[in-house]
Amino acid sequence: MIDSKSLPIGVFDSGLGGLTIVKAIQKLMPQEKLIYFGDTAHLPYGDKSPETIRQYAKEITHFLLSHSVKAIVIACNSASAVALDTVKAEAKEVPVFDVVRPASLYASSITQNRHIGVIGTRATIASGIYKRLLTAISEEPVFVAEKATPLLVPMIEEGWLQNQISLEIIHEYLSDNVLKNIDTLILGCTHYPLIKNQIQDFFSTFQSNPVTVVDSSMTVAAYLQKGLDNANLLNSSPTPAQSLYFFSDFSQNFEDSAKLFLGKKVTFERVEL
Ligand code: DGL
Repeated sequence: MIDSKSLPIGVFDSGLGGLTIVKAIQKLMPQEKLIYFGDTAHLPYGDKSPETIRQYAKEITHFLLSHSVKAIVIACNSASAVALDTVKAEAKEVPVFDVVRPASLYASSITQNRHIGVIGTRATIASGIYKRLLTAISEEPVFVAEKATPLLVPMIEEGWLQNQISLEIIHEYLSDNVLKNIDTLILGCTHYPLIKNQIQDFFSTFQSNPVTVVDSSMTVAAYLQKGLDNANLLNSSPTPAQSLYFFSDFSQNFEDSAKLFLGKKVTFERVEL
């Protein structure tokens, strides 16, 4: 009989951004084998309708289940925001982890002034998921300032992390009055950890009160570890595992970007769902 603990974990994203979550999971739990699916053929999700994102998420869930995964991580804020229930329904008894809840729980636990900002894609911000969840989990009233920052994804994919244009775009978005009083900012998009330092620098330079920038990748990995442990699914092998990476489309550009997100070169396999 196969021990469920040794089964892989399925992780998916609209493309490459989810590799920031993969990197964090591999750092925390190198013994876990990951089956990553990046839906590069349908990228970006951030500008798509909830119905379309749900349909893609459903197909990817079936693909991951065909690899006998013991858990599924939706490593995409846009898909977490609108397709969590869909993935859960398809996954049945396989536990599903999203990226919105861990980041919200963490932000809610550290804010001092109860003013939390969230930046993300249009799909994530339009869903209002962070506001709903932060309000639901906070014992005291919380003010949630949400701001869509759609130019950040293409900017990061272009590798523009710290040039004059990227710093100006960051400045333009973050100087919005709505974020003026926050003391905590959730990076509500899997791409944004790559510009965390630049975002932190903006607040250190231009905002009078200190702002803590919450990078969801590490909080997601820690949340997943706890969830697997609770479900008795944590792999206790001492040997680091080899993960597999699948993409629905492939170009040289994707391979180069993957290195940017993951910090190492990986072998891709193209698969049509
Ligand atoms: N992965 C998406 C997210 O975290 C960003 C990229 C996209 O729009 O597909 O929202």
